[in-house]
Amino acid sequence: MEISSCKINHWKNPLGVGMRTMTFSWIVSDGIAEEQRILIKKEDILFYDTGWKKLNSRGTTLPLYLEARTKYTWTVEARNKEGDVAESSIQAFETGKMEESWEGKWITCKNTERHPRFRKEFVLLSGKTIQKARLYICGLGLYEAYLNDEKIGDAYLTPGCHAYEHYLQAQTYSLTSMHWKNGDGKKQVLEVLLGPGWYNGRFGFTNNIFDEKGYRLIAELWITYEDGTQQVISTDDTWKVTGSNIIFSNIYDGEIRDDTLEKESWTTVQLYEGKMPPVQDNVSVPIRAHEQFQPEILHSPSGSLILDIHQNMAGIFLLRIKEIKGAKVRLQFGEVLQDGEFYRDNLRSAKAEYVYISDGREHVLRPHFTYYGYRYVKVEGISDFEPEDFTAIALYSDVEMDSRLRTGNAKINQLISNTLWGMKSNFLDVPTDCPQRDERLGWTGDTQAFSETAFYLAQPYAFYRKYLYDCEMEQNARDGAVPDVVPAFGMNSVSAVWGDVTCILPWNMYVATGDASILAEHYESMKQWVEYIRKTDGENHGWRSRQHYGDWLALDGVPLGNLHGGTDEGFIADVYYRKSALIVSKTAGILGKNEEAEEYEALAQKILDEICREYYSPNGRCCINTQTAALLTITEKLNDMECAKQALAKSLEVRYDRLCTGFVGTPLLCETLADNGMEDRAYRLLMNEEYPGWLYAVKLGATTIWERWNSLDETGRISSTGMNSLNHYTYGSVVSWIWKGAAGIRPCEECPGYQKAIIRPIPNWQLKELEANLPTPSGRYDIKWKIESDNQIHLWLTIPEGCEGEVELFEADMELLKQEQPDNLLLQQTEEGKCIISGGCYEVVYHTKRPLIRYASLNTSLGELMRAPQIAKLLYQEVDDLEYLLSYTAQYSLNETLHNLNYDEDFLKRLNEKIMSIPL
Ligand code: BGC
Repeated sequence: MEISSCKINHWKNPLGVGMRTMTFSWIVSDGIAEEQRILIKKEDILFYDTGWKKLNSRGTTLPLYLEARTKYTWTVEARNKEGDVAESSIQAFETGKMEESWEGKWITCKNTERHPRFRKEFVLLSGKTIQKARLYICGLGLYEAYLNDEKIGDAYLTPGCHAYEHYLQAQTYSLTSMHWKNGDGKKQVLEVLLGPGWYNGRFGFTNNIFDEKGYRLIAELWITYEDGTQQVISTDDTWKVTGSNIIFSNIYDGEIRDDTLEKESWTTVQLYEGKMPPVQDNVSVPIRAHEQFQPEILHSPSGSLILDIHQNMAGIFLLRIKEIKGAKVRLQFGEVLQDGEFYRDNLRSAKAEYVYISDGREHVLRPHFTYYGYRYVKVEGISDFEPEDFTAIALYSDVEMDSRLRTGNAKINQLISNTLWGMKSNFLDVPTDCPQRDERLGWTGDTQAFSETAFYLAQPYAFYRKYLYDCEMEQNARDGAVPDVVPAFGMNSVSAVWGDVTCILPWNMYVATGDASILAEHYESMKQWVEYIRKTDGENHGWRSRQHYGDWLALDGVPLGNLHGGTDEGFIADVYYRKSALIVSKTAGILGKNEEAEEYEALAQKILDEICREYYSPNGRCCINTQTAALLTITEKLNDMECAKQALAKSLEVRYDRLCTGFVGTPLLCETLADNGMEDRAYRLLMNEEYPGWLYAVKLGATTIWERWNSLDETGRISSTGMNSLNHYTYGSVVSWIWKGAAGIRPCEECPGYQKAIIRPIPNWQLKELEANLPTPSGRYDIKWKIESDNQIHLWLTIPEGCEGEVELFEADMELLKQEQPDNLLLQQTEEGKCIISGGCYEVVYHTKRPLIRYASLNTSLGELMRAPQIAKLLYQEVDDLEYLLSYTAQYSLNETLHNLNYDEDFLKRLNEKIMSIPL
């Protein structure tokens, strides 16, 4: 047996992380643990011992009473049936300041244009050696700290973006092995540079007023010497401040640095006497630097110098520069070119630029207090620019992202990559809607829609836990209501689906990981949200009649272009009200609150009755005839399923299998189709390269997911500038279906965290083959399939030890297969056509009951032919008046129609051949 991935609250060896509960997790491989044991030590003395028990390796919460600023070590041991014991390597965690009061005082300075640089000089105690040095610090809006000119820590944009009115975050850094100046009496210099950032720069929909908030800094540097003595350097009125060379910055507009400015003298800081929110230990996953890109240089038709890094992303850059004194350099950042020219009107009012005024010396520049969503950079004011002078750096929260999914289809692989980049670009401490325009806010609806996908692509538990903490803070200040964006930055509007994030996100976190600690931690907020709706609903369906975003950006809105889509917003609101009530009920059950579980189940039933009374005929037909209404009926089991399936099929049929769903329907679309016997349709939608569809953007060269189905038109021109981001991940939520459907793996609510996985890969000829590796809290699942011929599939599976797989072989004749391959390990235990397997490696080659590739011919009905985008395109080219024929003869064979119109026999023969060469 081997023990790996040891974490606390999903952090590896956390330092100064705020922990309301302490939940331990680890993975046992190469054997099955019967009993396990966690041992925690403080300074080599046993502090806590769980004893040998059946512990949940996906999340064991311990009641620990910890001391502030203290290091603990821990190990986990596992014992198998035979009595063999495995032990993990030694893990550590160190607490931050916890509840301890601060010796440091809040200090501030006058607001001037120049961003302040605070400084403290001090000497180490003479003749002593440092054993440990820790800096606890919070600087507002944003800070960067330096010890003797060396940047402290590798995080950017600290202290992060959170609900500042309610709490502030302090980070803990280890300075032990930094460059201390040697020699008794040598001056050590601690400096902190501050910028406005999210806290007091221009940000959000309500303007932050810089003067009111001002710069603030609090810090304590604790130095422990080997002989046990301690020295504490805290912020107080002995610190000094001066103006730096950064004269402007904010999140949207960028940064300006002027190196020609005269040095200012150091003045004494002021103590800040006003009231500040409580400072807590950091819960944000640090934003770190990740991928780097070297640009290609382009020259636009009008002569601009443009850099293309070939990947839309969020981040900063390094720029090596040497220009004459006084020269002004300007970089502007954008996502797309228009007619070969630099373009950024879709960033709305965000200036997204970096300006530098040179002192004539060589420098490597980097912005400190801003970030950009970009692929292209327009460069002005640099002579002799070389591509090596510029390095783009992706910045995102340091979430583990080691899942892998590749298919035999380059465009689908690009779609997966675009979604991953959508996530990276929008995981900047807060899950944002977009990284480029004057918004970049934690829109709750986008997070709700994408969170399931995020758990396939990454391990974002700690990242989302911080978001839910902000959510809880905002809810507490609003009587349970969840504002549309979290942190709210003054926004108070509330909408169904968006606010439901407070129930749906913790539930998704639990199902994907099997760690119920978030349910316990967030249960009150979940309940408060449902209670808030219950109160708003009152006796007269007040919730339905509120303003909601509905199926945001769906294409069936009336009048055309109505952003809320065609599905009644009140219906969607009620469906999500019930969904949240059900989640609260299930959560209460898990937490052992049985009465509340019953109460919320009864509430969910009552809501369902109301929904059925208002929105369905007595026979169960939904009165709202949209794709999204049908999808919700099926996924939420609201009423007659057959009727809803027919409605969904029909709604697609009349549009020749084109989707028209928005933020609500899109994440459900392919999965619902495939789960209800319409796999071919699901794939047809997925593979469609024409508008509206996922591969339309891929075809046009997108490297991230767009906000709208038609963010760019066929010629690559932006369709509108009002609300049009090219890096919005919501529609990328289809990738969760590529995992669940194409790779075929999903967790199961009853055994969360992949203790048991449902495995039902749906091979498709356009993908040809697929390989997926999913690291889960129970170990890594590997799935691989290959289409060997028209009707033969080769499948490989690896299930982690101690786990169970319930495998369904797509289109297999199970009885025949068992006869043909009696020794195949996969087929040893079957129940209702499913193979039940435990940890191990499996392989099978089998024939499908039907061919995997289907072809049409001229004898196929025109309507059916139109569903295959490539055939539709062909017909538009070859057949006159196709639109006219579609209105009259869509249900008849095309052959018959064209014969009646006296089309030439030779032409028909050639057309038939062409159609028969394109699979349906
Ligand atoms: C955001 C969205 C968000 C929506 C809600 C937009 O401006 O970018 O993604 O969910 O507003 O209306």
